[in-house]
Amino acid sequence: MRAAGELTTALVTGACSGIGLAFATELAALGYTLVLVSNRADALAEVATDLAQRHGIATHPLVMDLARAEAATTLAAELERRGLEVDILVNNAGMLLFGEVAETDPDRAMALLQLHVVTPTLLARHLGARMRARRRGHLLFVSSISAWNDFPGIALYGSSKRYLKSFAAALRSELAVWGVNVTTVAPGATATDLYAGTKVDLALALRLGVMLTPEAVARAGLKAMFARRALVVPGLMAKLFAWGMGATPRWLIDLLRRRAPWLPRPTRRPRA
Ligand SMILES: NC(=O)c1ccc[n+]([C@@H]2O[C@H](COP(=O)([O-])OP(=O)(O)OC[C@H]3O[C@@H](n4cnc5c(N)ncnc54)[C@H](OP(=O)(O)O)[C@@H]3O)[C@@H](O)[C@H]2O)c1
Repeated sequence: MRAAGELTTALVTGACSGIGLAFATELAALGYTLVLVSNRADALAEVATDLAQRHGIATHPLVMDLARAEAATTLAAELERRGLEVDILVNNAGMLLFGEVAETDPDRAMALLQLHVVTPTLLARHLGARMRARRRGHLLFVSSISAWNDFPGIALYGSSKRYLKSFAAALRSELAVWGVNVTTVAPGATATDLYAGTKVDLALALRLGVMLTPEAVARAGLKAMFARRALVVPGLMAKLFAWGMGATPRWLIDLLRRRAPWLPRPTRRPRA
């Protein structure tokens, strides 16, 4: 997959669990020096030590809250201070946020928007500019099949993932002429900690084939990235879901929203 002496360093955000950990593990096995970024110092240090020992690579764990407004700029400055030139950026870190927008804690909404929109955009801006100057590199964005339509109940999550897919597609055209590749991986349901605290039965979902493992998603994402593809939806089930979601008409989504027994009934609009 990798030409010797060419790309050497990869940065993965959200690298200490789930799909991010799977990305880091795959890249470690390919011999990349890894910059691993996440919010939890202990878990990150453990992952960095484990990958370094198992694969004989250098790892740089950077503890950082990527939901802060200045995160991307601080991270870029830290990379420069350490003399690290990133060849592959995996914009993976994310959080799940269910619920009606009007009932969402504004701080949680802000965190999601920073984490899913501002930080990956500015990281791509900072590191993409350096890749452009070197005429090489890969930017990999982790979107979601929820980007295929606009769903009530996950408005913030879904539309931020739609932004990533759209931003990555435009950036891909800008950077292609400079030799820099941009790929989007849009996973369907994947058995990770993202569902911690929900009632989703991961083991059952994996057995039924409606969920993929994070390893399968990461492998598909990296394969598409190294092949310089624009977009990949890993797994047949996720492809079918993405297609189905894209084809679902607005009226049906609104009808389901109105009939959902766990949601409040809409009140009638007062007459003018
Ligand atoms: N699982 C799915 O079904 C699914 C489907 C489609 C797309 N995705 C996307 O895949 C990506 C990875 O999610 P996952 O499923 O692997 O879930 P996960 O296991 O919960 O991983 C999320 C990662 O993001 C990191 N993160 C969250 N908030 C952060 C913050 N403020 N600062 C730094 N790091 C932060 C977490 O690190 P800490 O724990 O250290 O905070 C964690 O490593 C996300 O972008 C998600 O939206 C997942």
